[in-house]
Amino acid sequence: MSVHIDRFSGKKVVVTGAAQGIGLAVASRLAAESAELTLVDRSELVHDVAAELGAHSVTADLESYAGAEAAVAAARKRHGRIDVLVNNVGGAINFKPFTEFTAEEIQAEITRSLLTTLWSCRAVLPAMTEQGQGVIVNVSSCATRGIHRIPYSAAKGGINALTAALAFEYADSGIRVVATAPGGTEAPPRKISRGTPTPRTAQEKDWFQAHIDQTLASSLLKRYGTLDEQAAAICFLASDEASYITGTVLPVAGGDQG
Ligand SMILES: NC(=O)c1ccc[n+]([C@@H]2O[C@H](COP(=O)([O-])OP(=O)(O)OC[C@H]3O[C@@H](n4cnc5c(N)ncnc54)[C@H](O)[C@@H]3O)[C@@H](O)[C@H]2O)c1
Repeated sequence: MSVHIDRFSGKKVVVTGAAQGIGLAVASRLAAESAELTLVDRSELVHDVAAELGAHSVTADLESYAGAEAAVAAARKRHGRIDVLVNNVGGAINFKPFTEFTAEEIQAEITRSLLTTLWSCRAVLPAMTEQGQGVIVNVSSCATRGIHRIPYSAAKGGINALTAALAFEYADSGIRVVATAPGGTEAPPRKISRGTPTPRTAQEKDWFQAHIDQTLASSLLKRYGTLDEQAAAICFLASDEASYITGTVLPVAGGDQG
């Protein structure tokens, strides 16, 4: 990664799910551009990442409103304000046909990939409206049009809706709300599991493989993206370079529009 710009100097930025993957790539890029960071994750690993990047870190479970409120309060206590919130927590847990999902599994996907962002938006907006300025970048997914992870697709469709509607409702308060919709993204093996069960039977392996095949087939570029390609788009939308962009969901998926 080479960064030659300093778009976040003096900006107080919160990144959720920053201990690995896309969140970590965003945090690294923001740190390189002089942001004053609060990194939030429910894994203790976030403290190691923060130490490396010279950032403040908080452990919180964003699947509850109490967790989101505590994370926002800790960031404000440390930095006084929040200029940018990147809502990155999420991720599909199960990969199989919809009729194979139990009610509990459906609930878990919605809680992980919709409620975490809804809670965090609710927690941060009072501070941002008080400031009269702020940016929220949500991380959605091109899986809104995809197979074998329907509850996750529905959750990310919800992210797209709340991005558009919050942008509408809070524009007069000086707040931009935007999102990226990543396609399949290559990453090192996860240190922190999403809780995805290892496919055991040939059928479970086929179900899992089918969502990868669909992701590649839906991308015009016929490849997965990189973590840095995702982070670059998120940081652009978070920066003042994107000052005339709000309510937009930007697909970052090699041409898959989601
Ligand atoms: N990786 C992909 O291919 C891909 C594709 C499309 C969209 N996305 C989206 O990008 C985002 C990041 O994906 P990723 O693959 O880098 O994720 P990941 O699963 O590798 O990492 C997620 C991070 O969030 C943290 N986290 C999970 N639940 C949490 C909670 N309740 N409270 C606080 N922290 C929590 C985890 O500890 C982890 O550090 C997600 O929203 C995902 O849906 C990813």
